[in-house]
Amino acid sequence: MTAELRVATLDDLQTLVDLEAVTFPEDPWTPFMLADELSSPASRYWIATNEAGDPVGYGGVKVGGDQADVMTIGVAPHARGRGVGRAILDALLDWARQAGAAEIFLDVRPSNEGAIALYNSRGFVEIGRRPRYFRNPVEEAVEMRAPLTRARAKTTTK
Ligand SMILES: CC(C)(COP(=O)(O)OP(=O)(O)OC[C@H]1O[C@@H](n2cnc3c(N)ncnc32)[C@H](O)[C@@H]1OP(=O)(O)O)[C@@H](O)C(=O)NCCC(=O)NCCS
Repeated sequence: MTAELRVATLDDLQTLVDLEAVTFPEDPWTPFMLADELSSPASRYWIATNEAGDPVGYGGVKVGGDQADVMTIGVAPHARGRGVGRAILDALLDWARQAGAAEIFLDVRPSNEGAIALYNSRGFVEIGRRPRYFRNPVEEAVEMRAPLTRARAKTTTK
């Protein structure tokens, strides 16, 4: 799938509410939480759309100083397995790097093997566990970290 990515604004709140409902049906963020995130200058969210322009995924990152956090990534069930999640993660990592972060963190359920494989593929490694971090169902979190290496300036050789 060719996914187009665009930066989300507060006008996209309902789109995020709808995507949140299908990607995290057990424990969705409330509209208030999503509005708060979309309004925060430290956070940036993206929406992925398919060829027809329909929203199929979203993700957000928060940057504070030289550290960043992946806040969420979700792809609608019918659009999974076609590179949308990876495209969103890459946008989050690029922006965090540009915003000055040197490392980025996230929390994921140990049972979420697909997401962990995605994060591993972009350099995240487990650095610890947080007991009873998630609810519905209660589960510990795998805490992961990835370094955000700066893109080296191209040097020309003769
Ligand atoms: C996790 C999620 C965002 C992945 O999105 P996606 O668009 O399906 O992922 P992609 O197609 O970009 O896959 C990229 C890589 O992730 C890994 N991956 C994704 N889904 C996987 C699965 N079900 N099983 C194993 N690996 C998987 C693979 O390494 C894959 O690379 P490959 O295709 O080269 O093998 C999506 O499954 C989702 O929204 N899940 C529900 C919400 C969620 O759990 N979000 C993460 C919370 S921490």
